[in-house]
Amino acid sequence: MEITKDIIYIGVDDHELDLFEGQYIVPEGMAYNSYLVKGEKTAVMDTVDRKFGGEWLAKLEAALEGASPDYLIVQHMEPDHSANIAVFMEKYPNAVVCASKQAFNMMKNFFGTDFAGRNMVLGEGSVLDLGGHVLRFVTAPMVHWPEVIMTYDEKDKVFFSADAFGKFGAQDAPPDEEGWACEARRYYFGIVGKFGPQVQNLLKKAAALDIRTICPLHGPVLNEDLGYYINLYDTWSSYRSEDKGVTVAYTSVYGNTKKAAELLAEKLLERGVEAHVSDLARDDMAEVVEDAFRYDRIVLATTTYSGEIFPFMKTFIDHLTERNFQNKTVAFIENGSWAPVAAKKMRAMLEGCKDLKFAENTVTVTSALNDKSRAAIEALADELAAL
Ligand code: FEO
Repeated sequence: MEITKDIIYIGVDDHELDLFEGQYIVPEGMAYNSYLVKGEKTAVMDTVDRKFGGEWLAKLEAALEGASPDYLIVQHMEPDHSANIAVFMEKYPNAVVCASKQAFNMMKNFFGTDFAGRNMVLGEGSVLDLGGHVLRFVTAPMVHWPEVIMTYDEKDKVFFSADAFGKFGAQDAPPDEEGWACEARRYYFGIVGKFGPQVQNLLKKAAALDIRTICPLHGPVLNEDLGYYINLYDTWSSYRSEDKGVTVAYTSVYGNTKKAAELLAEKLLERGVEAHVSDLARDDMAEVVEDAFRYDRIVLATTTYSGEIFPFMKTFIDHLTERNFQNKTVAFIENGSWAPVAAKKMRAMLEGCKDLKFAENTVTVTSALNDKSRAAIEALADELAAL
């Protein structure tokens, strides 16, 4: 697949993966992207996951058309991209590996060598002239590991963005009915969500470049309407809400907290407010994390459990706080059969978050819904609808 006349896609699709990065389901598989840039000299942009080394090397051989690769550019050392560095360096003894200083430290840890004598250290503003193609490098620390560099091809105006602008899903997966943003957002908040300020820094650097094509390490190559993708990254990384709406995230042991959550969503919909209800024990939690950042209001509903809150809710709130959850209105529904404390416990877990506004109304359910808790749900729906 040609990205431009001189830039060839040599990535692979993974349809066997159960969990990406050990935690994210990928029902449509995953792509590990890699590219060959052909100037007078040639540069390979990253390798692929360990399982696909043979397939990748075969694609590389075909794209090289008899040439030998001169450089391997390592933008990111996470093994879904770096696993085949040693294999590549053994197969092509004249090739030089180019990466940040920190990436070479990681190579020592992963492979027992930093390829001394065959390596080139890259930093901010480094340039590699392939002859016909000049590659310029920018550092992107913590997007989303510290060693990350990204690459700009001045001739074709292609930006190789490492993990940024990636998404879940293989290249040969059917078109996503919900569009690029759905799985890109789940990927962003799962993987990069904590590092909003670092992504903002990257966007500032990218704004200084004339970019026509973005080549990420996962997901499709982007070459139309780039402002759409860049604006979404700006929204996500600045923790602005993308849409108006309410995420209602619940756990329920016997169905009564679920009824309360669903009744609230019904009342919100009656008031013309978009509401998305999720069961934290049964739905994909990464989808709910994505919704939590996407919408401007969130309701957390859970049971009191061993004087604490139900485990799935605790995990969910940890997912939010570790990703710098902020700038939202938060409301609580708690359930408890003898000493409900869940609302207090959930609020305490969120105390360190910036710019959260807590709703005045909290709903307390004592075992099952009754007239009092139904009225409290009406009052909460009124308050949230007024925002
Ligand atoms: Fe796709 Fe951070 O590795």
